[in-house]
Amino acid sequence: MYRTHTCGELRLEHTGHTVTLAGWVQRVRDLGAMSFIDLRDRYGITQLITDEHTSGEVKAILETLGREYVIQATGKVRERSSKNKNISTGDVEIELSAINILSPSAVPPFTIQDDTDGGDDLRMKYRYLDLRRGYVRKNLELRAQMAHAVRSFLNNEGFIETETPVLIKSTPEGARDFVVPSRMNPGEFYALPQSPQIFKQLLMVAGFDKYFQIVKCFRDEDLRADRQPEFTQIDCEMSFVEQEDVLCTFEGLTRYVFREVLGQEISDFPRMSYSEAMERYGSDKPDIRFDMLLNDLSDLVRGKGFSIFDEAGYIGAICVKGCSEYTRKQLDELTEWVKRPQIGARGMVYVKYNSDGSFKSSVDKFYPATELAKWAQKTGAEPGDLLLVLSGERKKMQEALGTLRNEMGNRLELRKKGTFSPLWVVDFPLLEWDAEAQRYFAMHHPFTSPKPEDILLLDTRPGDVRANAYDLVINGVEIGGGSVRIFDSALQAKMFDILGFTPAQAEAQFGFLMNAFKYGAPPHAGIAFGFDRLASLFAGLDSIRDVIAFPKNNAGRDVMNDSPAPISREQLDELNLRLVEKRS
Ligand code: AMO
Repeated sequence: MYRTHTCGELRLEHTGHTVTLAGWVQRVRDLGAMSFIDLRDRYGITQLITDEHTSGEVKAILETLGREYVIQATGKVRERSSKNKNISTGDVEIELSAINILSPSAVPPFTIQDDTDGGDDLRMKYRYLDLRRGYVRKNLELRAQMAHAVRSFLNNEGFIETETPVLIKSTPEGARDFVVPSRMNPGEFYALPQSPQIFKQLLMVAGFDKYFQIVKCFRDEDLRADRQPEFTQIDCEMSFVEQEDVLCTFEGLTRYVFREVLGQEISDFPRMSYSEAMERYGSDKPDIRFDMLLNDLSDLVRGKGFSIFDEAGYIGAICVKGCSEYTRKQLDELTEWVKRPQIGARGMVYVKYNSDGSFKSSVDKFYPATELAKWAQKTGAEPGDLLLVLSGERKKMQEALGTLRNEMGNRLELRKKGTFSPLWVVDFPLLEWDAEAQRYFAMHHPFTSPKPEDILLLDTRPGDVRANAYDLVINGVEIGGGSVRIFDSALQAKMFDILGFTPAQAEAQFGFLMNAFKYGAPPHAGIAFGFDRLASLFAGLDSIRDVIAFPKNNAGRDVMNDSPAPISREQLDELNLRLVEKRS
């Protein structure tokens, strides 16, 4: 037996017991007559001590110990004279009577403790050492607990956990696919699934009526804090349901996981239409922990001689409470901030509604106080508030204001961690026009059902058709998304037509799904949660990297095993692949 207890287990009640622990040496403090060793494992840290009674043999081994050595230590538990309230085993220590080095360690490249001296890159390169740190380990423990709660809830609800293939056929919607060459089929490729979408729909045709899978998905897209090239979904599908059934079931799941894992009760899941979310929050994933809503000033401000507003499709404002004292420097900095290409505003107008009731704005020349008072009324501004106004193309400026709103929410600390405000965003447009490609794309995916009352518009005003699609948003993060599916072959064929597929292309890409629908497809609907995002939200982190054991960096690389990497000539030959010289 390597150990009788873990390093997080011993308490005062064990006093007098002889125990054996095994773990990693966090540090050794040699105080001459006495030495202290902090021994760490997954469960905690226990202090081992030697003193004048310790045998020479044990002391000799102790002298050879370094950080991160793996040892086995035996001794008697005793009460500590100076207790450490910060750790669960802080009341006791072990008087060492035997020690055995199981595995020595090279000097680690950074200190393995919560406040480590290792930078990001170094910790990623030695991720297995980083994972020894309690801070990182706790995030993964939380993730495991969440996965357990998800399984438990869905199993109880009668969902069947089913695996779907990872080597599939490339589908040209959504993000780019990662592809895998087939050795046995020269010149042909598999794709890694962006999601198990088609397979879960086929499982519904198969009669599986409630499916789920905690599943890896792969998307070759630009990476951000909340995006990884491989990530995990809680993927679900149900038959004989309508949108309402799906929302209720997954409110239930969300509530259950919050309660089981964080002990938090989530009372309310308000619903908001996509158009309201865009108009009032400038985002299809609004953070409703704080107000600062967008106000459309277009009608109020046009026709007063200020050409920038007169020519703009949309003029909108947010009212920032209590910030009328912002300095010129702060406002200039904010103006530069909104002008960054990611946000894309051409400039920013401000109005200070001073505490004494007077106004000071960057457009005083065109708008006297009587006009600015109307702006204040429209936006609900009070003395002491600051209005920030952006103008330009409607959707773009709403999104820019939405981003500015979140930024101001951050700066004013209105986005409190540990407070969770979920909502459903519903009634998304079915289609999105892509000016570059000069065609419509499915906003969610091509299998999403239009709202029955909008189907008539498909031929005349496809851009106005709303979908039976929904997103679960929590604290401004898109946690999940799903839809009611088309289960009628004729309507599906029409969708492919609108999306620019010829019948032959639709047949080549999705023929097997359309064929399956000929054999009795039940009405069905589903959803997928981004599991990494949910876990990082629970952990209070801004990036999903810390809830993934071995994440990729922002360039999509695994810096630990240095992948992606070239493959040998032989492998290329075997796969019938030839490298083409890059043209400069
Ligand atoms: P969707 O594309 O909205 O829907 O994805 C579902 C959820 O997955 C998460 N997500 C990601 N998380 C981390 N890194 C990424 N690159 C990434 N991309 C997406 C998000 C998102 O809400 N098949 C449909 C679901 C359905 O209709 O049932 C789908 O995949 O949290």
